[in-house]
Amino acid sequence: MSSPNPSFLIIVVVLVSVLPANSSPDFLLRAREPEFYEWMVGVRRTIHENPELGYEEFKTSELIRKELDAMGVSYKHPVAVTGVVGFVGTGKPPFVALRADMDALAMQESVEWEHKSKVPDKMHGCGHDGHVAMLLGAAKILQEHRHEIKGTIILLFQPAEEGAGGAKRMIEAGAVDNVEAIFGFHLAADGTVGTVQSRPGPIMAGSGFFEATITGKGGHAAIPQHTIDPIIAASNVIVSLQHLVSREADPLDSQVVTVARFQGGSAFNVIPDSVSIGGTFRAFSKESFLQLRRRIEEVIVAQAAVQRCNATVDFLKERQPFFPVTVNSNDLHEHFEKVAGELLGSSNILDRVPLMGSEDFAFFTDAVPQTYYYFVGMQNHSHATLAPAHSPYFQINEEALPYGAALHASLAFQYLSESHTSSPVGEKKFHDEL
Ligand SMILES: *[C@@H]1O[C@H](CO)[C@@H](O)[C@H](O)[C@H]1NC(C)=O
Ligand SMILES: *[C@@H]1O[C@H](CO)[C@@H](O)[C@H](O)[C@H]1NC(C)=O
Ligand SMILES: [Zn+2]
Ligand SMILES: [Zn+2]
Repeated sequence: MSSPNPSFLIIVVVLVSVLPANSSPDFLLRAREPEFYEWMVGVRRTIHENPELGYEEFKTSELIRKELDAMGVSYKHPVAVTGVVGFVGTGKPPFVALRADMDALAMQESVEWEHKSKVPDKMHGCGHDGHVAMLLGAAKILQEHRHEIKGTIILLFQPAEEGAGGAKRMIEAGAVDNVEAIFGFHLAADGTVGTVQSRPGPIMAGSGFFEATITGKGGHAAIPQHTIDPIIAASNVIVSLQHLVSREADPLDSQVVTVARFQGGSAFNVIPDSVSIGGTFRAFSKESFLQLRRRIEEVIVAQAAVQRCNATVDFLKERQPFFPVTVNSNDLHEHFEKVAGELLGSSNILDRVPLMGSEDFAFFTDAVPQTYYYFVGMQNHSHATLAPAHSPYFQINEEALPYGAALHASLAFQYLSESHTSSPVGEKKFHDEL
């Protein structure tokens, strides 16, 4: 490498002096002030003690509205039963949205601590209590800077992330009409506090469920020749389903087919009339997902027929909609790297491999031109190792809250500061619902 030539250095100096010294106020400093931090922690603990399942987040929703009232942030309620849609800024385009989910899980908390869940068999085991506290934190920071916001920031407090399609209902209620870009996040037990993780492109898989009934002819277990055994047929179906990923899918295009349930007869000496199996399938593209769906049905019906059984397949779309793939926009990934890099230091912005889990944030991919999902680390290596989400031992490290709050606020604030193009939907069709 040769040493830099002096004229190049002069150009760099000139460029640097022309750029604004600091394009965004220091939101992280604000979020880490003791009083601000204690307030967020208090909100999170109150929600943690009172977990509510999807579409039942009434107290959570009430607490959110009380906090927004105290900040002077306007909102719309109810949206999708318990949802709250706040807004900060000019009330005009461009619109950018920040999303937090509010629901808890139907499980018993196993850790004994001062703010343990007060409701038996319900627990904030996925950290959505922290997500709400962080979005309220972002709302407070943004409201303090409302006169500098060049557009409108929509705050989405969404119900029912855990399988019941809360995002879909928020979209149907018009919550993201005319929104250009949306950001969502999840607390991550496997990331270090002060770091964030993401990637451009697909980040969470699309997922669907299936249930099949395989029908034969029951009878005495000692006289198989007078029966058509659906247990053998179902067993072969399950084995054949495993070949879809191992033999038909591109090994570099990750997919999963899992049969998680097998229900048949109840006696040791009776062959049942029918057997039911059920499971899930996952993929990272729409094409792979639809191909799996088609082949799952074909294999179940055809393989059952080999053993003279009939089969019906149900993809349960009414009970549990297919979750699309969560895809991060390349432009927003650049924006994320820049904003998060300024806030946390570029060495704290980590690449994340895609996850086979799915997120109902994915529904926003079809409704909003640009979507972005990221993970906020919370492991502190001076403390005990955190249990993963959905474990009865799951706990949040509250030290992570200021990072999520400040980053959420900065991503939206700077997106609007840098969005010079006027929104394609124009001035006339702004978010007039608000
Ligand atoms: C499968 O369906 C066909 C056509 O309805 C019927 O004739 C046959 O008996 C069925 N077989 C079993 C094992 O239920
Ligand atoms: C991690 O924990 C130590 C000990 O409790 C604490 O001093 C430190 O501030 C924590 N780190 C972060 C980033 O909060
Ligand atoms: Zn979850
Ligand atoms: Zn979650």
